[in-house]
Amino acid sequence: MITPLYPLPHAQAISRRSFLAGSASFAAAALFSNAARGAVSSAPKFSAYPFSLGVASGDPLPDGVVLWTRLAPQPLDPAGGMPPESIEVSWQICDDEAMTRVVQSGTATATPDWSHSVHVEVSGLRPARWYWYQFKAGGEVSAKGRTRTTPAADTLPERLRFAFVSCQHYENGFFTAYDHLSREDIDLVVHLGDYIYEGAAAAKSVRRHSSGACVTLADYRLRYSQYKTDADLQRAHAAAPWIVTWDDHEVVNNYANDHIAGPTPRAEFLLRRAAAYQAYFENMPLRRSALPHGPDMLLYRRLSFGRLANFHVLDTRQYRTPQPQGDGLKPAHPVLMDAKGTLLGEQQRDWLFSGLERSAATWNVLAQQIPVARVRQMKNEIAGYSMDQWPGYEFERRRLLRHFHDRKIRNPVVLTGDIHCNWANELIADFDELDSRTVATEFIGTSITSGGDGTATPKNADQLLTENPFVKYFNTERGYVRCELTPQQWCTDYRTVPFVTKPGAPLNTRASFVVESGHPKLHRA
Ligand SMILES: [Fe+2]
Repeated sequence: MITPLYPLPHAQAISRRSFLAGSASFAAAALFSNAARGAVSSAPKFSAYPFSLGVASGDPLPDGVVLWTRLAPQPLDPAGGMPPESIEVSWQICDDEAMTRVVQSGTATATPDWSHSVHVEVSGLRPARWYWYQFKAGGEVSAKGRTRTTPAADTLPERLRFAFVSCQHYENGFFTAYDHLSREDIDLVVHLGDYIYEGAAAAKSVRRHSSGACVTLADYRLRYSQYKTDADLQRAHAAAPWIVTWDDHEVVNNYANDHIAGPTPRAEFLLRRAAAYQAYFENMPLRRSALPHGPDMLLYRRLSFGRLANFHVLDTRQYRTPQPQGDGLKPAHPVLMDAKGTLLGEQQRDWLFSGLERSAATWNVLAQQIPVARVRQMKNEIAGYSMDQWPGYEFERRRLLRHFHDRKIRNPVVLTGDIHCNWANELIADFDELDSRTVATEFIGTSITSGGDGTATPKNADQLLTENPFVKYFNTERGYVRCELTPQQWCTDYRTVPFVTKPGAPLNTRASFVVESGHPKLHRA
């Protein structure tokens, strides 16, 4: 039984004038009610600093954003070292970095049922502005976060700069890339999944998971706590709003809807999925529209950046049919054209297709997990296609590309994580006709750490690029991808670090590509 997080007590909005009449900082205690609200403690005593997991913001709108934090004075202890009681958390949002001009503030309740997380949906802000925010509980004040609203819906912004990331296996290395990312001049960050890895602590690793494989809610909560104690990750969250979606490892490797490899009964797996989804919600800056209900959680959604870009954020795990041919790398087979095979599920596919058709944006960005290009790969002398990726769901993959083409969708650009490599792909209409027209562009971003140190010159690069001429770039270093969009063109920079197994790696721009609006082909910049 999951107790609902909402409704929260109403935020107590304070007018700007009344705040300025007092003081401009959290020292202005009078502005934060100490009155106990039912069983909510407004004067808790913590055993240590409670904001050990940092702060975050997400899902920006022209007039608002979600502010997130979670109280965990002992992050690696069960329940984060928190007592089983609800705690009042105050928040402030200002329009200056010094936090002297408060534009809104209020209180929220952090409950043990939701691991003392706080999700404040601020509204009434001005479009395309930077804001700074902070939380306070029991006399302790959080780190300061910076966030930004998106431009007004009816405007055409001159540019959008964002970075996208994925796959941050804690044990594989240091999150140095996040330290670099936190200093980028960007409007937002998109996370494409594998925020945690669910496995047990490995015998040999750069850093160790603190616990065994995640199965229960307590396990998943502890795993998020460990990842979120990372200072580089905290800096990246505090630097800009994030738009997040998940892949498989937020639950378990390569799960498909209610199915995982092995003998686990469906009902048992759905309990695990419910635990994993709840822990995900608790730890991400998501709106209440994503609040999980048992094993179900609505994560696919659409966010806009004026008329410059629409982000169609997808969930390719929760509704898919099982991987055909028993998963893995397999040759082409008629079963891949089974019309019942789906990654999106019917409802999400209809939502995506109609949303693309209605979109008035210059750039239509699909923020999703798994490669769309039908790349022929070699593993242990066997050539084939990954059954976990779009080519394993070939019927639906072709349907998506046909939709781009037939409905004349404006500038579809797919963002992909999952495979721990950097690729730049032209998505051609027919992958059996290698000279067929390009209908969309796909940028695959490497991992933050997963896979450990990579290389700018992978051994199999020549063969891969020769056999798959629509692949224009391939690199296995770690890092992130930075994109700059204008009404005329899209520019992508592959930002990489040469190592993650020790701290302090420098940042490089290994390759840059440009796509002109109206022409999905890739040009090396
Ligand atoms: Fe991954």
